[in-house]
Amino acid sequence: MPSSGNDAHSHIINSEVEKKSLGPTRMADAVFVVLLLLHVGSIIAWMGGATLFVSVLAPSLRRMSPASRGEFTLSVLPSYMRFIGGSSIAAAVAGAALYAYITQMGPPLAPSSSGLTYIQIGAVVTLIVLLIAFGVLIPTSRKLVGLLKQPQKQGAPGGDAVMSAQVASLQKRLGMAARLGVFLLALTFILMIVGASI
Ligand code: HEM
Repeated sequence: MPSSGNDAHSHIINSEVEKKSLGPTRMADAVFVVLLLLHVGSIIAWMGGATLFVSVLAPSLRRMSPASRGEFTLSVLPSYMRFIGGSSIAAAVAGAALYAYITQMGPPLAPSSSGLTYIQIGAVVTLIVLLIAFGVLIPTSRKLVGLLKQPQKQGAPGGDAVMSAQVASLQKRLGMAARLGVFLLALTFILMIVGASI
């Protein structure tokens, strides 16, 4: 009978599909969850650190006296920048691994093709943020720390004024780059969530 033949056929196909997907999918889920945790965990560190700088550290620095501002910058900035550098690289590496993994595995792990487009745009914006972090933020804070470590140019007329003007302009550049970075990170955050859900 054609109908029972069809049923038998579809049953075989179904069990083949089950066999193929059951084992690897469980494994796949474990790898996926670990990569997603690494990705989202480092994103939380990165975004939290950047938001803290823009909303708490930068405004408090503006309220401090030049001497305590210098001391605070010298003791906090180098390790803060290492933290931001490390968490941003970890976030991008985990994101790239996640991307490679879900596109290799195919459905049901891979998002729809329009979802993937959002994630790709997010990845490009992330590269821009990394360029800002490693091309502007980190070099500027190195310059700032170097300048603050220099012994005061005593005797040089107006030396102090020149130096504090330089310090102020470096701090302004840091603040602007950090604000732009936080804005772009927030944009990427939205792109990623939309990309993963559609
Ligand atoms: C090189 C850069 C990046 C790549 C290649 C990347 C890639 C990915 C991939 C493939 C996923 C999984 C999507 C899915 O579950 O289908 C994901 C999830 C996610 N990404 Fe990224 N990402 C990058 C940067 C970022 C950044 C900078 C942020 C935050 C500002 C971010 C936030 C998230 C979040 C929150 C999720 C979880 C979304 C959800 O499951 O609802 N990613 N990312």
